[in-house]
Amino acid sequence: MKLVVTGGAGFIGSAFVRMAVAEGIDVVNLDKLTYAGNLENLAPIEGEPNYKFAHGDICDAAFLHRLLTDQKPDGIVHFAAESHVDRSILSPGAFITTNVNGTFALLEAARAAKLARFVHVSTDEVYGSLEEPLEADENFPLVTNSPYSASKASSDLLVRSYFKTYNMPVMITRASNNYGPYQFPEKLIPLMIMNALEDRKLPVYGDGQQVRDWLYVDDHCRGILSVFRKGREGEVYNIGGNRSLANLSVVHNILELTGKTEALIEYVKDRPGHDRRYALTNEKLTRETGWEPLMQFETGLAATVDWYRNHPAWVDRVRSGAYRDYLAQNYAHR
Ligand code: NAD
Ligand code: TYD
Repeated sequence: MKLVVTGGAGFIGSAFVRMAVAEGIDVVNLDKLTYAGNLENLAPIEGEPNYKFAHGDICDAAFLHRLLTDQKPDGIVHFAAESHVDRSILSPGAFITTNVNGTFALLEAARAAKLARFVHVSTDEVYGSLEEPLEADENFPLVTNSPYSASKASSDLLVRSYFKTYNMPVMITRASNNYGPYQFPEKLIPLMIMNALEDRKLPVYGDGQQVRDWLYVDDHCRGILSVFRKGREGEVYNIGGNRSLANLSVVHNILELTGKTEALIEYVKDRPGHDRRYALTNEKLTRETGWEPLMQFETGLAATVDWYRNHPAWVDRVRSGAYRDYLAQNYAHR
């Protein structure tokens, strides 16, 4: 089997590429290498005969056409996106360009190439903020509140339309919040781990009682492979970790694992349009493919803290000038 994976130099995409290559799948990783793309994430499989890198932009139709014509893959797994809510609040334009226009360009290229499978990787954020005790299944309405989630919901609807209109063999996955090694330190867990390890403040938005479901990145990648292999065309599959936690509780776990105290916590101005609670059921994926999340949150978080502790060179290189500029822009006014 040969796959084109878009966004394979990012956090989840690189975990997927490492897993797929280790399983003997031929992988062509198409990535633009934005601030979030990092080829160091692929160091463990670099040089493997079944792995290739193609530097390019999913918005570039001519490049996509050439790539698919040359490589003739069996399918595409589409991760490439602008992925961070706070950045979508500061600069929404790139989210529309990559997540909406880029997905459109990729769909058109896949349609022309008559690909056998197209898995679009999306998020539970498209269901918006849910009141307790609601859990979103795949038929839940799409009620988006950030430019990020709106751009992802837009791309989900485009993907769906290619199934309905052109009978393209598409599937959509919607996962909850991922955590694990190699995550860019702008998202809650890696940001808090890196700050705690360096005795810097932990900026908790609002009251810290917002709830997220946490999914270990390798569990997510196994779920996507299950959908690729066994999913039904035109269907949506939720992928969750069965572990809902308030942000403050995650932060307390990190303080404990890093041996630091609550004195590091700093309550800061809330995020505009902040979704209070995400919750989803992954009963459909389990019923249809047998997939289940395997990683216990406490074990996965401890492994993630160890990974950041043991990879100072990766951390130093990620903490470039551009990352410092982003921190100044996002946190200075809070
Ligand atoms: P990430 O920001 O770590 O990586 C995104 C990757 O896409 C980077 O390698 C980047 O270089 C690449 N990219 C960006 N624009 C591109 C373009 N125009 N052309 C080609 N490549 C481009 O993201 P992530 O956290 O790994 O998320 C991957 C996917 O999973 C996204 O679609 C995201 O919406 C979805 N998702 C993420 C989470 C999460 O918790 N992080 C949860 C559910 C779903
Ligand atoms: P994040 O990792 O950005 O994921 P998402 O917003 O896509 O769910 O944030 C997770 C939660 O953590 C969210 O409720 C916002 C909160 N948060 C903070 O309290 N402080 C921070 O510095 C960050 C980045 C997030």
